[in-house]
Amino acid sequence: MKHLLKLSDLTSEEIFGILNLADQLKYERKNNIRHHYLEGKTLGMIFQKSSTRTRVSFEVGMNELGGYALFLSDRDLQIGRGEPIKDTVRVLSRYLDGIMIRTFAQQDVEDLARYGSIPIINGLTDYCHPCQVLADLMTIREYKGSLKGLKLCFVGDGNNMANSLIVGGIKTGMEVAVACPLEYQPDEKIVAWARETGKLTITADIRSAAEGADVLYTDVWASMGQEAEKAEREKAFRGYCIDTELMSLAKPDAMVLHCLPAHRGEEITDEIFEAHADDIFDEAENRLHAQKAVLVKLLKR
Ligand code: CP
Ligand code: NVA
Repeated sequence: MKHLLKLSDLTSEEIFGILNLADQLKYERKNNIRHHYLEGKTLGMIFQKSSTRTRVSFEVGMNELGGYALFLSDRDLQIGRGEPIKDTVRVLSRYLDGIMIRTFAQQDVEDLARYGSIPIINGLTDYCHPCQVLADLMTIREYKGSLKGLKLCFVGDGNNMANSLIVGGIKTGMEVAVACPLEYQPDEKIVAWARETGKLTITADIRSAAEGADVLYTDVWASMGQEAEKAEREKAFRGYCIDTELMSLAKPDAMVLHCLPAHRGEEITDEIFEAHADDIFDEAENRLHAQKAVLVKLLKR
């Protein structure tokens, strides 16, 4: 594993290798066991969209691993003034040991890996969010003991989260049910791959998707960059909401996860969010541990 561009690039063994290391790092942190595996290493973090969790967890994670993280906003970089990404990365490769990037086009992330000579980590694109799903898988495994055979139901937009959950869920042995309006389905190629495994169902009927689920997952109706579609999306997604009635169809001990930020009253009710706040904030915490595992796997020499 040289980069983390998308989960479909990883084998199941590589994904479980990251989850196991993440568990170990979480244990070490809790027990104050020093783990400076990346002493002297510097990570550049390029942000072309907003972030709370990704930015802070990567920065703190590098610090806890004995390294250093550099926040690079596209408002300050020459990328924002049109310098090609393939030039920027050839320069940054001479200074840094790795780059984490949050941007719009998946192609930009792929280009960084192609033209640069250091590990590249995808911190969210319009296409996928692999770091979030590694933390999600870690959290589900913590609560349920094992991932194999669990049913994960995603409710809402067939967006970056849905794409990564389908790939990550199926690669770790889960069944994935996506409930979305038919005009907002996940990526076509991911769906085609997933259908071949026989582990994916897609339906506009949220009730059938939630039936017997071990995990209910949702995300915002309008993602970053889709602000202009807000009104139209509010109409299309009305009813795609995790509420008490939907919960009653899932298993009695079902977890509720949300990558955050959440819009209460849209994709999830305040009541369900607060009833499952432990699941959701453990999930947010696990961003730190899962990403530290990715950093160690990619940057430690
Ligand atoms: N879930 C997530 O990636 O959060 P941020 O946008 O705050 O980084
Ligand atoms: N789908 C959301 C996820 C945020 C973590 C977005 O792209 O804005």
